[in-house]
Amino acid sequence: MLKVDTGEFLDRFDRGPFRIGHDLDGRDDLFGLDAIVALAGRLDADQVEYNLGDLDIVSDPEAARTPSAGVLETIRNIDRAGSWVALKRPETDPAYGELHRRLVAELDPLVSAVDSPIASSHLYLFVSSAGAVTPLHNDLEYGTLLQIRGAKTITFLDRDDPEVLPHNDHALATEGHRNLQVPDAVLERGVPVGLEPGGGVHLPWNVPHWVAVGDDDWSVSLSLTFQTRRTQTEIELHRINRTLAGLGMHPRPVGASPAADATKHAVWRAGRGLKHVLR
Ligand SMILES: [Fe+2]
Repeated sequence: MLKVDTGEFLDRFDRGPFRIGHDLDGRDDLFGLDAIVALAGRLDADQVEYNLGDLDIVSDPEAARTPSAGVLETIRNIDRAGSWVALKRPETDPAYGELHRRLVAELDPLVSAVDSPIASSHLYLFVSSAGAVTPLHNDLEYGTLLQIRGAKTITFLDRDDPEVLPHNDHALATEGHRNLQVPDAVLERGVPVGLEPGGGVHLPWNVPHWVAVGDDDWSVSLSLTFQTRRTQTEIELHRINRTLAGLGMHPRPVGASPAADATKHAVWRAGRGLKHVLR
C-alpha cells in the first residue's frame, strides 16, 4: 500500500519531511464519498470534528465555527460546504481497522530499525472543501499524510527555530489544544510540500505545520500518526520535569544526561506503580 524509498526513510526519519507514495486513491470502497458518509454515521460523536474551513493560518481554536448543517450533510455537500471534517480513529471500524493494521505492519520494521518500535498509532480521515485551512499546530506524533483526492499543501516550520517553538524544557508537556501562535514573519520561513492523489509526506513529530486545500477542488486525505517507545519516554520525561518544576525544583533538561533521564523515568514509573498499589 505504501511506496517507500527505504534508504531515504532510514536517512531522513525524524530529521525532516520526506515524500512517500501509496495506492489508496484507488480504494473507493473506503474513501469514496458514500463510504465516508457511511463511516461518519457509524462512528461515535466524539470521533467526529468539523468546522467551517475559512480559518487563518495562525488561529485560536475558539475561532473555529461549526457549520449550520449536520456532519453527514456537510460531508455529502463538501464540494460547496466551505468546511473541514475530521473523522478520528476510524480504525475502530472493522474495514478501516484492517487497513490500519496493514499500514502499521508496513512501517514498523523501518521505524524500529531507526528509532524504536511503534508503541501507539491512530488514523485520521480528513474531508475538506476547496480552500479549507488547518491552522498552524504541533503534533506529538509522527505523521504520514496520504493524499487520496484533490490537492493539499502542507507547510512546515523549523522545530529548532527558537521563534517557532518555545524552547523551555516543558514545551512538549503541553496538554490541550495544539494550535501555535507565531509572528507573520515566521510564517514566511515555512517550507511548502504540495500533495496530489497517490502522493504523501512523512513528517517528524514535533514539527509545526499548517495545511491548505487547493482552491480548485475538495480533498480527501488520510493521516497515519504514531508514537514510538522512544518518543513516549521523551514526552513522559518532559511531563516529569514540568511536575518537578511545579514543586520548585530545577530538573536537568531532558536529553542533557541520558543516565539521569533513565533514572528519573524509572523512579517515576515505580512511583506510578506504587500509587496504583496504594489506591
Ligand atoms: Fe498535524
